[in-house]
Amino acid sequence: MELVCVEDFEQQADRKLEKSAKDYYKSGAGDQFTLGLNREAFKRLRLRPRCLRDVSQLDISTTILGHQQKWPLGIAPTAMQKMAHPDGEIGNARAAGKAGSIFILSTLSTTSLEDLSAGAPDTTKWFQLYIYKDRSLTEKVVRRAEKANFKALVLTIDAPIFGHRRNDVRNKFSLPSHLCLANFQGEQANGVITEGGSGINEYVASQFDASITWKDIAWLKQLTHLPIVVKGVLTAEDAVLAREFGCAGIIVSNHGARQIDTVPASIEALPEIVRAVGEDLVVMLDGGIMQGNDIFKALALGAKTVFIGRPAVYGLAYNGQKGVEQLLGVLRKDFEITMALTGCQTLADIKPAMVTHESTYSKL
Ligand SMILES: Cc1cc2nc3c(=O)[nH]c(=O)nc-3n(C[C@H](O)[C@H](O)[C@H](O)COP(=O)(O)O)c2cc1C
Repeated sequence: MELVCVEDFEQQADRKLEKSAKDYYKSGAGDQFTLGLNREAFKRLRLRPRCLRDVSQLDISTTILGHQQKWPLGIAPTAMQKMAHPDGEIGNARAAGKAGSIFILSTLSTTSLEDLSAGAPDTTKWFQLYIYKDRSLTEKVVRRAEKANFKALVLTIDAPIFGHRRNDVRNKFSLPSHLCLANFQGEQANGVITEGGSGINEYVASQFDASITWKDIAWLKQLTHLPIVVKGVLTAEDAVLAREFGCAGIIVSNHGARQIDTVPASIEALPEIVRAVGEDLVVMLDGGIMQGNDIFKALALGAKTVFIGRPAVYGLAYNGQKGVEQLLGVLRKDFEITMALTGCQTLADIKPAMVTHESTYSKL
């Protein structure tokens, strides 16, 4: 049967993935309340479509941090993609490139940043950074990202330690032994995700610098000419600090609800952040994007582009690079339908008034 929505890809992925990998990809933190909310909150928003506005030709292209994109959807960093399929990060990045989407490579990837760059030369690539206790190691990774033609650094700020993902602890999640953290081959920081309650949490606790503060953005800025995007902003207060410390953009994100439970859905947090810094910074969003309507709603509320995490992993698990290409095709088509049926020819036609909270109507 033809796969027509992200849920179809999710079902296929569920069949293919080993239990511990599936749990790792799908889990949220704690009770997983926010995990559900990330999707639910989109459904609480209603579209207010406009009609008779000539939608015979659509142009959904956009420019993000100076890079022309075919449409406002990119791929968020997710760790250890070869666990989903041997095509791994390269397959995912190539599919992104073909679709005209940004691809963000995780620090915790199973493909090194050099191999990724060589394997997907035509894709716009950003590198997601975690700051390690060993600052010389961090500096080395930044230099390698610059050299390998990555166009921005995405500093994840919501993970000084990792959240409590119960299934990973139950499963004693570990990276399969034929895979490794490819950015750290030959370094002490490689391959420690093997044992313990949840191997990944122990790895993070031993390697990541939990003492980082906003001042470290200044450290990073003097280290590199690459623009810095901070990922994991959920409040106007932190968005203002991101502006103060000279970041080029922010990704409104709760890390796919994997860090701390009962935080708001990303789409709920977006409006206060756009109000605070939307004029000055490129505001982007990830979390819970499952269909074209969701992309539209995020843009209407002020995001310049959105990213998907799990959906791309589902495409990859289903059929490697081809699976991600197919998934992106389904999402693109769905977004075009939303654009046409809301009366929008270009992204500039998407207006805040086209989206309203369900409470607008429940009073009736
Ligand atoms: C399996 C998995 C691994 C992830 N690994 C990382 C990571 O290494 N670095 C990071 O900044 N975010 C990571 N994230 C968070 C994603 O970048 C993104 O914020 C989230 O997946 C978006 O939500 P969605 O899955 O609903 O699209 C990960 C998410 C998942 C599901």
